[in-house]
Amino acid sequence: MNKKRSLTGDRPTGKLHIGHYFGSLKSRVKMQEDENLERFVMIADVQALTDNFNNPQKVRDNVYEVLMDYLSVGIDPNKTTIFLQSMIPEIAELTVFYSNLVTIARLQRNPTVKTEIAQKKEIFGESVTYGFLGYPVSQAADITAFGGELVPVGEDQLPLIEQCREIVRKFNSIYGDTLKEPEAVLSSNKRIKGLDGNEKMGKSLGNAIYLSDTDDQIHKKVMGALTDPGRIKKESKGNPNICMVAYYHNLFSKNEVKTVCEECKAGKRGCVDCKKQLITNIIKELTPIREKRKYYEERPEELKKILMEGTIKAQEEAKKTMEKVKKAMKIDY
Ligand code: TRP
Ligand code: SF4
Repeated sequence: MNKKRSLTGDRPTGKLHIGHYFGSLKSRVKMQEDENLERFVMIADVQALTDNFNNPQKVRDNVYEVLMDYLSVGIDPNKTTIFLQSMIPEIAELTVFYSNLVTIARLQRNPTVKTEIAQKKEIFGESVTYGFLGYPVSQAADITAFGGELVPVGEDQLPLIEQCREIVRKFNSIYGDTLKEPEAVLSSNKRIKGLDGNEKMGKSLGNAIYLSDTDDQIHKKVMGALTDPGRIKKESKGNPNICMVAYYHNLFSKNEVKTVCEECKAGKRGCVDCKKQLITNIIKELTPIREKRKYYEERPEELKKILMEGTIKAQEEAKKTMEKVKKAMKIDY
């Protein structure tokens, strides 16, 4: 039986945090048990440059940070091909070919692109670059270069997968049946909120706990987390539904969260003790991850070898796709 391919990735613009951990990393590790799947995970440094073109060092530094985060949560290079986007020239070539199949109006209507442009005024000002507006085309190239049929992503990426499907259909209808139409696989975990209660956890918002944070950093961050503002004394009855500490207990303290909420509602639990309990549990969960990370931090050659081996494997796959695409487009000289 032919194995199905899955392809997903991240822009290397920062270290990964517990939002990534619950949102996508855990499910990628779980997917490794599926023997009928061939998995590819891309460190999308070229896409990271579309909104960080003026800060190449940041992208460069974060390629290895993200790789270390992947490896330390258990993404296994023997089961998942981890590779670097900028070393796959076929992706750039496909992007050029596909750009004939997408109108500017269609790109401008892409909800994800629209939202991002609105958020990135300080980079783009009033007029967005051609590269950023076109990154859905490049993402379609990412997916199709490897014959990706399943794309595990968060909800915010759905419009990009839809745009990829449209490109594939258009390509196949003009040049003949060549590319596979991908399907998004939504991870069951919803987006994880930030320490301040913001819907999104992120670096720019300063509300994230990183997989690589130290005990001290975790302590400080949790101590500053948003709790029920109505609770002044330990005896006052609390509402865990509006408390971020309770929210994270739900992720990190599965066996204790019920008691936490009951005691909070009954006014039998102090917020400081409640936070300390959460800190202990977060540290317990992250300790093995941080230990693995430390192992790799001390072994840059091993990291480089893992990334290059994955990338060579990915290059072979992209070459095969390119042969088919050029033949279909009658540019196979
Ligand atoms: N756009 C994704 C993000 O911002 C990263 C990404 C790049 C990606 N290429 C991809 C995701 C291909 C899935 C498939 O996180
Ligand atoms: Fe939040 Fe715990 Fe305080 Fe209740 S006791 S408000 S759950 S920190």
